[in-house]
Amino acid sequence: MAKKSENMRGFNVAVVGLSGTEKDKGQAGVGKSCLCNRFMRSLADDYSVDHISVLSQTDFSGRVVNNDHFLYWGEVTKSSEEGIEFLFQVIEQTEFIDDASFQPFKGSKMEPYVKRCSATKLTSAEKLMYICKNQLGIEKEYEQKVLPDGKINIDGFLCVFDVSDVPCRTIEKQVEIVTGILNNLVKTKKPVVLVTTKNDDANESYVKEAERLVSKKEYKGAILLIETSAHENINVDLAFIILAQLIDRTKGRTKILPFLEAAKIR
Ligand code: GTP
Ligand code: MG
Repeated sequence: MAKKSENMRGFNVAVVGLSGTEKDKGQAGVGKSCLCNRFMRSLADDYSVDHISVLSQTDFSGRVVNNDHFLYWGEVTKSSEEGIEFLFQVIEQTEFIDDASFQPFKGSKMEPYVKRCSATKLTSAEKLMYICKNQLGIEKEYEQKVLPDGKINIDGFLCVFDVSDVPCRTIEKQVEIVTGILNNLVKTKKPVVLVTTKNDDANESYVKEAERLVSKKEYKGAILLIETSAHENINVDLAFIILAQLIDRTKGRTKILPFLEAAKIR
């Protein structure tokens, strides 16, 4: 758990989903960074749609990326509709690509992403919080927050599933990878929520694929589905709060509204 202050409980969340080279993920990412950005920095001016994944060797070994394939997004406090406060620390599990070779950087003992992203114990000495792309190389000009004690234990996972059409990515490919990821996540016994991203630009048949995925009988109904849009800030806080309530085994959970309903009452 993250540190507790007064009665506030800490929740450490890893955001995962299809990642890798353009060959793996198509022309755009699935929306992990945008989801984290919207959640951590909810002010409109602090929301950027352009995040890092293709980097120079210098940026890969700088203190933000720190030779890891994950980002530390820092910590934030949120309240549920019931007025309960939650302290979150967020990690994004991605895959950084070398801008010279266009291949993933070689980290230490690199397992395939689908396995690696299910790690529940992460370490990285002196790793700095990621804020935005422009921060790289001029870290001193931004707030410098270090990953506490150089380590973090993950309490639950948000697995992202992109329901928009992305050139050069097939839905079959995303379903195959996300199935592999979910199978590894459930083995950790930590709560998992499937978060559909880009619902503002959804292909309805992909929404159905996500519903099919979570209703597979292997998962015994344990994986909840939440429909989000980071661009429109719909259901983003809800996804993290529902996950926290699952981690905390809260009895009454916040009601999950489908995307269109959530969009209406905003
Ligand atoms: P990698 O870390 O490179 O694997 O990518 P990622 O999963 O972090 O994806 P990222 O958040 O960088 O988003 C990729 C692209 O998807 C962005 O350039 C956004 O324009 C688009 N995108 C992200 N969120 C949304 C959304 O809510 N709606 C729409 N329409 N597009 C989005
Ligand atoms: Mg990213």
